[in-house]
This record gives sequence, C-alpha cells and structure tokens, in this order.
Amino acid sequence: MVRTRIADVLRNGKIGQRYEVLGWVRSRRDSKAGFSFIDLNDGSCLKNLQIIADKELPEYEERVLKAYTGCSLKVIGVLSESPARGQAVELRAEKVEIIGPVDPIAYPLQKKRHSFEFLRTIAHLRPRTNTFGAVARVRNAVSYAIHKFFQDRGFIYVHTPIITGSDCEGAGELFHVTSLDLQELAREGQGIDYSQDLFGKPANLTVSGQMEAEAYALALGDVYTFGPTFRAENSNTSRHLAEFWMVEPEMAFCDLKGNIEVAEQLLKFIFNWVLDRCKEDLEFFNRFIDQNVLSTLEVVAKEDYEVITYTDAMKLLAESGKKFEFPVSWGADLQSEHERYLCEEVFRKPVIIIDYPKDIKPFYMKLNDDEKTVRAMDVLVPRVGEIIGGSQREDSYDVLVRRMEETGINPEDYWWYLDLRRFGSAPHSGFGLGLERLIQFITGLSNIRDVIPFPRTPGNLEF
Ligand code: 4AD
Ligand code: MG
Repeated sequence: MVRTRIADVLRNGKIGQRYEVLGWVRSRRDSKAGFSFIDLNDGSCLKNLQIIADKELPEYEERVLKAYTGCSLKVIGVLSESPARGQAVELRAEKVEIIGPVDPIAYPLQKKRHSFEFLRTIAHLRPRTNTFGAVARVRNAVSYAIHKFFQDRGFIYVHTPIITGSDCEGAGELFHVTSLDLQELAREGQGIDYSQDLFGKPANLTVSGQMEAEAYALALGDVYTFGPTFRAENSNTSRHLAEFWMVEPEMAFCDLKGNIEVAEQLLKFIFNWVLDRCKEDLEFFNRFIDQNVLSTLEVVAKEDYEVITYTDAMKLLAESGKKFEFPVSWGADLQSEHERYLCEEVFRKPVIIIDYPKDIKPFYMKLNDDEKTVRAMDVLVPRVGEIIGGSQREDSYDVLVRRMEETGINPEDYWWYLDLRRFGSAPHSGFGLGLERLIQFITGLSNIRDVIPFPRTPGNLEF
C-alpha cells in the first residue's frame, strides 16, 4: 500500500476505502467497551485522524496499548463515518505497527497545553504541537506567496551573498566572519592582521542584500532577494532576532510612490493568499492565540493603507495627549509605542510613514529637496509595528558621496556601489520585509521566537 497524507484522507477520503497512514500519536484513550481511540497527526494539517483499534486485533496488547503519545505509527484501516462528535470520519484499524516507540515517562510533550517558554527549551520537539505545526505551514504558504507575487510580475529572483565586506545599514550590528584562529591570536596577545585572513580583509554576515540587489536591478529592472539576514543586535525584545529572513525587492525606474504601491500590493496578496489557503490554521490562531486574527486579516487584505509623512506623524503624536515613555520631538526615531499608537488607535490599519529625517536613516536614501528629510518609507502594522523598511535610493553620484562622508563612511570602500551611479544611473527604489514580523502579524503570536523554527537570540544557540 502507499501512504496517504492525513490531510488528504480527511479532505478527499472515501468511506469504505482502505488507507495506509503514517504519523505520530497525539493521544490515546482506551474504552471499557474494548476499543482504543488514537489521535494520529502527520503534520499535513492541523486536524488529527482518529484511529479506532479493536481489542480483537492480534497486536492489541503488544502494539496498540504501547502506542503512547509521541510514538510513530503505521496504520492500515478502512475509513468509516464517525458516530461520535468531533470528527466526521475515523479509520477502523486492520493493522497497527509501531515504527518508533516512546518511553512515556521521558517524553516531554503531553496532551495538555505547554507554555511557549517551556516549548522554546524543546525546540526540536515543539513542531509536534498544534501551534508550531500551524506556524510552519503558514510560514511555508507565505514564502510560496512571496515568490508567486514577484514571479507573476516578472521580477527576477537573485541570490545575494551571505558573507560580505560591507555594512549596508551602517549600524555596525555585524557578526564577523573569520578563518583566523582566535584562540591562537588571543594567546599571542597580538592585534588582528586581516591580510592573513581568508578574504584578506574584514568580513561579516550580511545585514541586508540591498546593495547587491541594486546592482542587479540596474541591469535586470525588477529583482528580489529572499534570504537569511544577520544582526548582532544585543537586544532581547519580542521582535528582534539575530538571524531572520528578509524579502527585498529592488526596482529600477521606480520612485517612492511606486515603491509604496508594490509594498501594499505584496502585503495584500499575502494576506489574501493565507486567508484562502490556511483557513484551518488561521482559525486555530483566532481561537487560541488572538481573537482578532481573522477580522484583522480581512481588513488589511482589502482596505487602503494610510500614507503620512514623518512630520505629520510627529504632530499627531505630540497632539495625542498620551504619555509616552520615549519623548516625541522632531528628529527622534519612532519607538514601537509610537508606531502602535498610530496603527492601533489613530488609523486602525497599516500606516506607511514617509520622508523621515535624514539623520535617523541610512546614507543610501534619496535626499529630499528640503535637504532635511529622505525618501524613506516604513510600513507599520497594528500590534507588531514596523514590518517593512525601504526607500527610494540616492541616484546622484555627488550627493551619495557627500552623504557617505557626512555619516562617516569611506566612499572608497563602496567604490562599486558608487559606480552604479557613475554608469547609467537611474531612479530606483526597494524595501525589506521582515518575514518573521509578518508571520507574527498574521498568526497573532506575540514573541518572534515562536515564528521561526530555531530562533537565534542573545544567549540562545542550543539547537
Ligand atoms: O528597516 P531595515 O533595517 O531595512 C533594511 O535592511 C533595508 N536595507 C531593506 C531594503 O530597503 N532593501 O529592515 C527591514 C525589515 C524591518 O522592517 C523588519 O521587519 C525586519 O527587516 N528586521 C528584523 N526582523 C527581525 N529581527 C531583527 N533584528 C530585524 N531587523 C530588521
Ligand atoms: Mg527599519
């Protein structure tokens, strides 16, 4: 027999037909009437398939009664209508085989609800829970939707390097990469001679694929990257990871307005996609994590997003009469409390803030005529705050050199990036969408550590 995924059995299974299923036991109940009920899950969907195993089965004592929570099973049986509430169908077992047993005393997952904190300590087993299975399926669907959106619009997927010599965001949150023997250097008590290192110069993990994406946009038109991104930011918050995934489109002959349109269309496409294809998992989040998951998604999938300037946003905050922890004054960065106030209390939908002061944004953003602000755009959503950061890029060679000098960057180190402005420069724009923050927003999960399989945060590298 060939195995059928439980999602297919539940969706398209025919009553009276024989199926082979393989999965892990979520729970087992033995009735006095001479049956055992096994809830089997194989990760293909949230729902379990109920297996009915009769005491008359020859393997009942040896196998069925040892099918503890967590063990892997192969079951062959006939699909029947279920007389009981809770499921429409059940599989009447003809053959039960334990593939991988479990010592029930040692297995850390039980049928009860476990705290997210505890589950983080068993990140290798937490995908076997309802929540983490659902997160994995939603993450998968969102990733597919991202590729679909860009591919349907003729964007070229480019693979930008993970090891780089630059700091795109200029924030200095870099993980250094070296092949030098650090122990030996420490023993010798000498400084570091990078000419002896593999690349002959300092190297780090990328904080953004943007600069390399710009080189390809200025040849291929519309491109995107989608890959892992690293920031050695030593902050323990519910929305920062040291390793996360970022989607970065970059578009030639595109100004800030075009950039905003693509960002809004992309988000709406993803929200509609998950509403169509992840209904069961979203209903689960709506029931157990946050009761506004579905209603929020339905709004943000349709309604127009608000676009306002940084200056106007500051005015709204100053006039709000709210007491914020961080002061509101022109030139200060928006804190998450400010972002959330604008999205949750003022506009009650995603807000796109543009034209930030140049001093709180990276050097590459296009300077506005006022010489004080840049053509930046941040997309903020309720509950999570910033999920997208982007801008129109500075396309004038002279202005870009000046901006580098002003921000303490040596233009010589970025000669190739400047070349893009020397040879056939063009207005161009792009943005970065943080995948994990997007998944937080979609699922309602409040901690970013719970929307990536193996989170990397300060002090955590067990898995
Ligand atoms: O705003 P950021 O820093 O923008 C850039 O890196 C640009 N170079 C992108 C571009 O224009 N191509 O980061 C973009 C997004 C943020 O809005 C946030 O969603 C996510 O990346 N992000 C993080 N997500 C998790 N953990 C972190 N430490 C993050 N830092 C940024
Ligand atoms: Mg940002």
